Amino acid sequence: MKSISLLMVLTYLICSSLNAHAQQKSAQQQLDERVQKFLNDKRNTWQDLNVPYEDGKILHDLILQKKYTNALEIGTSTGHSTIWIAWALSKTGGKLITIEIDGHRQKQAIQNVRDAGLSEYVDFRLADAHQLVKELPGPFDFVFSDADKDWYPQYFKDLDPKLIRGGCFTAHNVRNPYGGIREFLDYVKQLPGYTTTINNASRAGISISYKK
Ligand SMILES: C[S@@+](CC[C@H](N)C(=O)[O-])C[C@H]1O[C@@H](n2cnc3c(N)ncnc32)[C@H](O)[C@@H]1O
Repeated sequence: MKSISLLMVLTYLICSSLNAHAQQKSAQQQLDERVQKFLNDKRNTWQDLNVPYEDGKILHDLILQKKYTNALEIGTSTGHSTIWIAWALSKTGGKLITIEIDGHRQKQAIQNVRDAGLSEYVDFRLADAHQLVKELPGPFDFVFSDADKDWYPQYFKDLDPKLIRGGCFTAHNVRNPYGGIREFLDYVKQLPGYTTTINNASRAGISISYKK
């Protein structure tokens, strides 16, 4: 009699656990469908210096591939790259801090991220990144630099000590480098502690620097 009761309890526990697992899976699937629809509907309509679709996908895939969880974005604008990054983090169990100096753009970004269903994965900061990047404690395992290009070298220098080994610093618009972008690339490429490649999938180009 005792062993039958034990068997029933065990069966119940296994079924509950399988059920919970199935529900969890379908919640992620529902989110994936919502985000993908949002991105498809808005594709080619972004007008605030946003990354192209292809570059957003590169950032998303990179985070998933390396299972990054502590991300920082410099330059939210209206949130296109934010959505791609936050979507990846919804799958790795991570969180993104994103910085924007323009309140109007940030407001729109908050709405876009909400419409995509990703608010819980994003911490929006309205600030001058020159200052805030220095103050954020980190650590980070993923950084996307996409604000004022003249400051790229300084953003990198400020974040290098806060980036964990195996982490990745990415920067946008590096395909035809000039000014601060050129200076940043020359600097990071000669660092023995980093391996840097350029992804030219779009016209803009993304540099990807892994910390060894
Ligand atoms: C190229 S856009 C970012 C596009 C965004 N990553 C996307 O794909 O949707 C650059 C943004 O950086 C912001 N920005 C420029 N200088 C900044 C600063 N010092 N601190 C914070 N944001 C800044 C601009 O207002 C602009 O919205």
